[in-house]
Amino acid sequence: MASKLRQIEKFAEVLQHLLQEAGLLASEDSALTSEASLPTLVDMGCGKGYLTFAAAALLGPNARVVGIETRAELIAFCNQAAQKHQLSQLSFLAGEIATASWGETSALDILVALHACDTATDDALARGIHAGAKLILVSPCCQKELRPQLTPPEVLREALSHGIFQERQAEFVTDALRAQLLEWAGYRTKVFEFISTEHTAKNIMIAAIRSHPRGDSGRLQRLRSLASFYGIRHQRLAHHLQLSLV
Ligand SMILES: C[S@@+](CC[C@H](N)C(=O)[O-])C[C@H]1O[C@@H](n2cnc3c(N)ncnc32)[C@H](O)[C@@H]1O
Repeated sequence: MASKLRQIEKFAEVLQHLLQEAGLLASEDSALTSEASLPTLVDMGCGKGYLTFAAAALLGPNARVVGIETRAELIAFCNQAAQKHQLSQLSFLAGEIATASWGETSALDILVALHACDTATDDALARGIHAGAKLILVSPCCQKELRPQLTPPEVLREALSHGIFQERQAEFVTDALRAQLLEWAGYRTKVFEFISTEHTAKNIMIAAIRSHPRGDSGRLQRLRSLASFYGIRHQRLAHHLQLSLV
């Protein structure tokens, strides 16, 4: 629990800085800026809602905060807690990341998805990009999709005969491709460790702020070169963005 608490604190710290960088929170008093009138934050794969409650506390009553989660018992638990503490701006909905809707427009200004397993992170990233979210913040885990496709060049073949290196390489290639796809989609993107590995091994964070027009052909060429270097032909986020990697 101490490690989880540390993760929540670090997450809130990182989120606050990024909200300021994205122009959604004022840097002096952490109040919502006028640009951010009634923003919607959606936490996809929210689990027990620890981070969702932290985000709601940070944004205050003038933001809408929604948690999405497949497990109905967690949704009931979180909604009860939100009601008990009279947090009417905060709600939890049972549903799949790829298809859930929240309200008529499913407006989305800030997307959060921490440790949504494997390609659920890609589904969340795609929802954020398609909705034109101003800020996207994910911490991926269980990057399994690309591992069976990894066919590295000859020079890496022996090194990658070791399972642990294959696993690390699959994590690296998956998250590097995600970061490059976000850049292609118009987001200034950074990847960093948000907490020490002493608290969780799943400590990579990808943060993206909408900043430039999407579709740069140079970026597309570079991400295709990376995919081709490792023999990657399919990746879920690229698929959602209707981009061929070959
Ligand atoms: C490891 S937990 C992380 C919970 C929370 N984000 C956190 O960091 O404390 C992952 C959660 O995502 C949910 N999840 C995984 N795939 C999902 C999907 N496709 N749609 C909705 N929820 C999903 C799981 O049920 C689980 O509760």
